[in-house]
Amino acid sequence: MSRPRKQHEPLDFSFEEVLSTIADENKPLLQEAGARPFVKWAGGKRSILSELLARIPKTYRTYCEPFIGGGALFFAAKPEKAYLSDVNFHLVLAFVAVRDDLDGLIANLKIHVTKHDKDYFMRARTQLSREKDPTKVAALFIYLNKTCYNGLYRVNRAGEFNVPIGSYTTPTILDDTNLRSASRSLQGVEIKQHVFSQVPVENGNFYYLDPPYHKTFDGYDSSRFGDKDHERLAAFCRALEDRRCFFMLSNSDTPFVRSLYKGFKIEKVSGARFVSCKADGRGKENELVIRNYE
Ligand SMILES: C[S@@+](CC[C@H](N)C(=O)[O-])C[C@H]1O[C@@H](n2cnc3c(N)ncnc32)[C@H](O)[C@@H]1O
Repeated sequence: MSRPRKQHEPLDFSFEEVLSTIADENKPLLQEAGARPFVKWAGGKRSILSELLARIPKTYRTYCEPFIGGGALFFAAKPEKAYLSDVNFHLVLAFVAVRDDLDGLIANLKIHVTKHDKDYFMRARTQLSREKDPTKVAALFIYLNKTCYNGLYRVNRAGEFNVPIGSYTTPTILDDTNLRSASRSLQGVEIKQHVFSQVPVENGNFYYLDPPYHKTFDGYDSSRFGDKDHERLAAFCRALEDRRCFFMLSNSDTPFVRSLYKGFKIEKVSGARFVSCKADGRGKENELVIRNYE
């Protein structure tokens, strides 16, 4: 590895650093292991992936993930049929570009790699809300995600991205191998931008719900996900139960969350949060995995 990790850097850089030390001929072996999230995302599920994977139903019709974020579980689960959505427009555009215009996306990311410095980062921030070409928007979004402070996403009232630059010496802006792998995983997958309640509901489908956590920092969007939203989500889960769907939900362990899901299977798992607004906010935390099936 080229350098020691600084304490405030998200842990998911380690894989890329490791990858850079691996000979090219061995990279396809790693590729077979499957894609990983191609963005750093607050609330990423890599730390409890094995716990979640073990709890996915053996059979279901369509895998649906209406708070897709980085999509860690989707990429690890490799479902045959999937429907992914999120309210974040830029994030969804990036997923669509990885699925439909990988070469265009990579070409744009290469430009960002060569031009990256503080001034370029500041211009890219402004350009994100002005750019009209969807692939260019996606590339700007991924570039900013990989170079901004802690991979946070935050926009001001005017919709302009306003997270400061991170202090990375050599940020991995373009991970060609993983993007290609992610693109393969996304072929044939439906990807939409909307709020969670608009996800199509069909019996036999599996829904993995990973909302912004209750009572934690929300660095995803300018729209806060408050108690009322958690109540609506719990009502939505009851509707999924009535329609004979499977659901699995992740959330923080608070009395409020436990009360909302009374009657369902509630389990405590522990994992490390990867992105936080404060360096000391990261660490082992208990979270709940709630299901309506065994
Ligand atoms: C905890 S993150 C998901 C993390 C993801 N599972 C991962 O592994 O990276 C929550 C996501 O919910 C999205 N979100 C927030 N409010 C939403 C809403 N009302 N409907 C749909 N998505 C929403 C955010 O944009 C964010 O991507």
